[in-house]
Amino acid sequence: MLKSKKYLVTAGPTQEAIDPVRYISNHSTGKMGYAIAAELARRGAQVILVSGPVCLPTPTGVRRIDVVSAEEMYQACVELWPQMDGAVMCAAVADYTPVSVSDVKAKKSAADLTLTLKPTRDIAAELGRTKRTDQLLVGFALETDNEKVNALSKLTRKNLDFIVLNSLRDAGAGFGGDTNKITIFSRPTDPAATSLKTEFPLETKQQAAAHIINTLSAFLK
Ligand code: CTP
Repeated sequence: MLKSKKYLVTAGPTQEAIDPVRYISNHSTGKMGYAIAAELARRGAQVILVSGPVCLPTPTGVRRIDVVSAEEMYQACVELWPQMDGAVMCAAVADYTPVSVSDVKAKKSAADLTLTLKPTRDIAAELGRTKRTDQLLVGFALETDNEKVNALSKLTRKNLDFIVLNSLRDAGAGFGGDTNKITIFSRPTDPAATSLKTEFPLETKQQAAAHIINTLSAFLK
């Protein structure tokens, strides 16, 4: 069913330059997104992986486009989206970026330093805004509190078909490790119904990726 379908996957962190030697980023290692790209390719999909800077090999059969900043990831995804059957937005995109980037290394001084940051553009929300009825859009929510409320708000705000929640309160979930504990909230096809919730046990990121792709496949039936 996924055979010959075209999927976009985003993965990893983004880096927002302050000057030629410094940047703002986060702890994402890209493992979850790479596992999803690998699983989609294994099931016969044509996968384009738009990746922030990570230290991982490109999964077999996957075409990888490397980007650094949130803006570069936005440009790559928005350009690819019309040719895609769906997208899984797994990247931990920086929410803010410096207003100005120094082209020389900023020198240390004794005074406090204030950085002015501006919000980045929301890639998932833009893909959701322009999504066609034949396209599927999957997002992630990494939360530390108020998990269900935040995940459901992102599900509707970004016009996703389903969202994968990770809670940093769960041991073994989140950045860096080889395991994850996910809960999937799906948008019901019946508008009168409430969202559908499926909770999975602690498992490897490969197993979690298989569950996510099973959920995606169920939408294609
Ligand atoms: N996302 C994105 N582009 C952004 C920010 C987020 O594509 N600029 C995507 C992520 O890849 C993920 C989903 O949106 O699939 C939710 O990301 P998250 O960081 O949890 O949510 P935010 O909207 O940034 O909200 P907040 O950081 O306030 O929780």
